[in-house]
Amino acid sequence: MAHINDNFLKLKAGYLFPEIARRVQAFAQTNPDAQIIRLGIGDVTEPLPQAVVQAMHAAVDEMGKRESFHGYGPEQGYLWLREKIAEHDFQARGCEIEADEIIISDGSKCDTGNILDIFGPDNTIAVTDPVYPVYVDTNVMAGHTGPANDDGEFEGLIYLPATAENDFTPEIPKQRVDIVYLCYPNNPTGTVASRETLTRWVEYARVNNSIIFFDAAYEAYITNPDIPHSIFEIPGAREVAIEFRSFSKIAGFTGVRCACVVIPKTLRAKSNSGEDISISRLWMRRHTTKFNGVSYITQRGAEAVYTPDGQAQVHGLVAFYLENARIIREGLTEIGLEVYGGVNAPYVWVKTPGNVRSWDFFDQMLSQTHIVSTPGSGFGAAGEGYFRLSAFNTRENVEEAVRRLRKGLRV
Ligand code: MLT
Repeated sequence: MAHINDNFLKLKAGYLFPEIARRVQAFAQTNPDAQIIRLGIGDVTEPLPQAVVQAMHAAVDEMGKRESFHGYGPEQGYLWLREKIAEHDFQARGCEIEADEIIISDGSKCDTGNILDIFGPDNTIAVTDPVYPVYVDTNVMAGHTGPANDDGEFEGLIYLPATAENDFTPEIPKQRVDIVYLCYPNNPTGTVASRETLTRWVEYARVNNSIIFFDAAYEAYITNPDIPHSIFEIPGAREVAIEFRSFSKIAGFTGVRCACVVIPKTLRAKSNSGEDISISRLWMRRHTTKFNGVSYITQRGAEAVYTPDGQAQVHGLVAFYLENARIIREGLTEIGLEVYGGVNAPYVWVKTPGNVRSWDFFDQMLSQTHIVSTPGSGFGAAGEGYFRLSAFNTRENVEEAVRRLRKGLRV
């Protein structure tokens, strides 16, 4: 009989969001009249920007004619899209990033998981806690950890707690780590990292020969002009960082799928024989072998984000969700809850009243108010006693959710 990858057996439950969906479905079956409002998974609700729609329609028409049909594209993405990203998202902010350092993919979830393919099994890995669960689960699947303890912490990973006491800004580790995952604006706490904080991380990585995996999927939500949008705004980051970017939350692409990984040519790591190897070369090798590229139509849609109309429309979308975040944040504060995030991020991070455990509170909120949240403990042990609300929803649903919480949750 064939053998499985036993590392999968170390994973405690199902992946967080399908587990929430399972519980919500069970609730909906027994309460068919409940008007459920989903503020759990951060999934966009607003339609695609018109500039994107028009570009995709035009691309479909091209695909329908022999003379403008496209078959396989370059696995790493069309140069015209990579050039737009380099210019608008990086060079315009003073980052020295070239188009050939940008590799187009179908999502940051996949990229942050797949990147482990090109790193060895013996790296010391640090994650913040709470954390986007993909970083942890993919390390478990790759065999980089031992089993989990009762709190769900995996042996072998270094956890950097982000708590109310440290303003959800984890301490830089005392020991040396090979790889650290940072996500800013943060999922799930909605906090941001200042230029000073990111500078300390880059200095740490340079001194320790570490690599920072920087997930910037929510950078468009930064409202404070002093907060960097990219790790590459920090001098010296080109030698120590990989950045993950996504069109999902800025342009409503969760169902369309387009993202990119930014790997400077100056980033290197050691082979077993002690040779310095280019990370970008390895990632290209992996990507061109295992991935056939994002569709031409999708990439034309992503390109349209950088037109003047596209820019105005995506800024409108981001402003819409940030207003939702404000409504949630202020509504919950008025009720008397302890509320964080939601200013430079589409997530609001909330302490459960009376220190109720996260999953218990999830069930309570679902049954009493018919609102779906994400239990903080699903993001790690330090998230216990918190819950996350997503601002990705219609205005009507967000206002209704706040009304219901006011009625049902006065603390
Ligand atoms: C979330 O809710 O944390 C996000 O939607 C997850 C994701 O983007 O994969």
